[in-house]
Amino acid sequence: MSVRPARSPRPPDLSPIAADVRRGLTATPKWLPARLFYDRRGSELFDAITELPEYYLTRVEYALLERHAADIVERAIAGAPRPVRVVELGAGSGVKTKLLLQAFVSRQGRTLYMPIDVSEGALRACALRLWRETPDVDVQPLAMRHEDALPAITSLGPRRLVLFIGSSIGNLSDAEAARLLGSVRRCLAPGGALLLGADRVKPLSVLLPAYDDAAGVTAAFNRNVLARINRELGGRFDVERFDHEARWNPDAAAVEMHLVSRGAQRVQIEALELTVDFADRESIHTESSAKYDDARIHALIRAAGFVPERDYQDDRGWFGLHFCRVE
Ligand code: AVJ
Repeated sequence: MSVRPARSPRPPDLSPIAADVRRGLTATPKWLPARLFYDRRGSELFDAITELPEYYLTRVEYALLERHAADIVERAIAGAPRPVRVVELGAGSGVKTKLLLQAFVSRQGRTLYMPIDVSEGALRACALRLWRETPDVDVQPLAMRHEDALPAITSLGPRRLVLFIGSSIGNLSDAEAARLLGSVRRCLAPGGALLLGADRVKPLSVLLPAYDDAAGVTAAFNRNVLARINRELGGRFDVERFDHEARWNPDAAAVEMHLVSRGAQRVQIEALELTVDFADRESIHTESSAKYDDARIHALIRAAGFVPERDYQDDRGWFGLHFCRVE
């Protein structure tokens, strides 16, 4: 006689975001993972954020890359059989990476570049841009989550530079960050390297406007996660009834983004057969963006098994690029 397993109480979730949304919106306090921002619309809004006067991160990191590209490339190929291959976690639009890739091409000729991103739209735009603008770069895009891409990274052979720039690491807790960087470290051989971008602690008068700009682009980016739930899961959010808020969390040294319910409200999410109740001023925590000092970022780099070899910083100390070595 066969034993039939107990039937799950609800039909299976078909959407890739269903499990995240159900977990986050049934939790106390409510939250949603930051990766949900990046559907097509969200990736467009993020690109618009990088051009805002308040959002210094992209500009400062770009200037650092411009200034130090030759040194970074020199370190990456030091003592290594050429050519070094370049892998990027969270490729985005590719504007910043183009700078580095051009430096690689002038130093070593044709260069293989593997951008990895969950957003297929962003990946396509990045691959297309580089294909058009840098013919000596062979682009091999990979649409998947970082954790799932590790075998493909290993398959590129031992000489690799992994890029994790833009301070995307700030979306992770220190424990999660050390775990992700540790698994990247285990794909690399001695001599391999990681270039890590990390935003730094600075006055709140600079930090908070970067996440709450005057034109309201960041607010639209934050609210888009609710619009996405409406589009993809039959949600009934009235997105304008949630206020965008950027808050400093001193314990985590992180800027947090929240969506705060204006009034008590009840929201149905059809595909999840879920009803979510919000009290007046109850918030959904949608993102943490950690800000680092030297001690914190070096501890993370070492916890992952890398040696911090060289730090690059702008004059104001607003943003850091960290060249990390496998010994
Ligand atoms: C892409 C995670 C680096 O935290 O600054 C921008 C995302 N959120 N504005 C950041 C973001 C709000 C960004 N990262």
